[in-house]
Amino acid sequence: MNPPASAADKRRIEELFGTHINRGQLKYLKAGHLDVIETERLGVRFRDPFSGRRMYDCFSSAGSFNVSRHNPAVMQALEEAVDSLDMGTFCLLSEHKIALAEKLAAIAPGDLEQVLFASGGGEAIDCALKLARGATGRPGIIATVKAYHGHTGFALSANGKPHYRHYFEPLMPGFEFVPFNDLEAVRRSISKETAAVILEPVQGEAGIFPGNNAYLEGLRRLCDEHGALLIFDEIQTGFGRTGKLFACEHSGVIPDMMTVAKSIGGALYPNAAVIYRTIPRLTDFVAAHPAFHITHNGGTDIACRVSLKAIEYIEEHRLWENAARMGAKLKAALEDLQREQPKAVRDVRGLGLMVGIEYGDEFMGPLMSDALAKRGVFAAYSGNAPQVMRFMPPITVTESEMDEIIAAIRGAVHDVRRLLPLAMLAAKIPGASKLLNDERVQTTVFNFLRLFERSGAQPSERHQP
Ligand SMILES: Cc1ncc(COP(=O)(O)O)c(C=O)c1O
Repeated sequence: MNPPASAADKRRIEELFGTHINRGQLKYLKAGHLDVIETERLGVRFRDPFSGRRMYDCFSSAGSFNVSRHNPAVMQALEEAVDSLDMGTFCLLSEHKIALAEKLAAIAPGDLEQVLFASGGGEAIDCALKLARGATGRPGIIATVKAYHGHTGFALSANGKPHYRHYFEPLMPGFEFVPFNDLEAVRRSISKETAAVILEPVQGEAGIFPGNNAYLEGLRRLCDEHGALLIFDEIQTGFGRTGKLFACEHSGVIPDMMTVAKSIGGALYPNAAVIYRTIPRLTDFVAAHPAFHITHNGGTDIACRVSLKAIEYIEEHRLWENAARMGAKLKAALEDLQREQPKAVRDVRGLGLMVGIEYGDEFMGPLMSDALAKRGVFAAYSGNAPQVMRFMPPITVTESEMDEIIAAIRGAVHDVRRLLPLAMLAAKIPGASKLLNDERVQTTVFNFLRLFERSGAQPSERHQP
């Protein structure tokens, strides 16, 4: 075990991060009490050397670590791949690419059996939306309010929160946003000009909203009636996270394209893909335009070997079943908490190990992160809905680890309850809640409060095991 880092070490790291990487991000992390440093990354935990705490990782880099940190089987695959391979030339025939493509075709539902590789989630979304426009010859894309699809060109244009978009407008034309789980809104928008409807089967950054079966089935029918393509973004939900291998299996709705990334990299080596149906509209377009999407860093030979092992590991251990069991346990415990503290916890939602609790005010997100961190749980609030704290530990989590996580969450919700009178007071002062819910105001206020916290903390408090 590494010795605890000193306050001076932490200050140095923060200064260098602020100077060379991102000063604003540093402020944001500190305000949200997310300024931990990861060492000893193993299984479902890591250690923050500054506080000395071993933290349960309930963020998993927004659902990227399904097979857990430093999974030995995946590590071994990476080591072996590095011994004999390198990234490979992107466009050449490769048995490693073929092996992964075959595996993806075998595990994806229905006739989703064609694969295009990408280097990350955003690029996979770009590739899917380009394919939709290219194959249909239509411009229109329908996406959902508060959706999160990444920060690249097409993906950013499909991002449903203005917050991420407005500095860069005009973005791609032809994108329209409809409320999630609202079939009538899609019915009103879809037309013969629509190339695709794109959505996350469970909205993640929006605050954990599972799409209901009737909605997803209705989308499939509407797309078929209008000749539009249906795209499911399974970048966060894929590979067991929701209690099935892919979230679309809950409804049985097979999209025309499915994007995957994050956990396909086994928490060690990034990779991503678009898996699309064997239908002439799509396969003919790709055959006629083989270079319509080129990526030098997606589907590299090393990445494909690692991805294959990560998937084999998930299959061998039937991790989706563990996600369903542990997710049900966590959700039941959070529902108990909601019954006990209805004023604090407004709602509990989720599917499998993608679970969120909702507070009344956005500014409760950072406070909850802090309370959790103090009890050894690292969790982040939703990017597009800070009042929703999400819990997404690696899906390898065991029963006893889940018991400890639940005990810590209980304690943290209890700690935060003491702050509720403040929230209620703020709600009574006209404009106060709105002001506190503004991200920039929050960042300034919470950074200010942390200065006091720091100056008041005893050295022993800074190194609690
Ligand atoms: C649902 C979803 N789509 C797309 C992305 C973008 O992935 P990446 O960050 O790999 O570009 C993310 C990342 O958080 C995501 O959660």
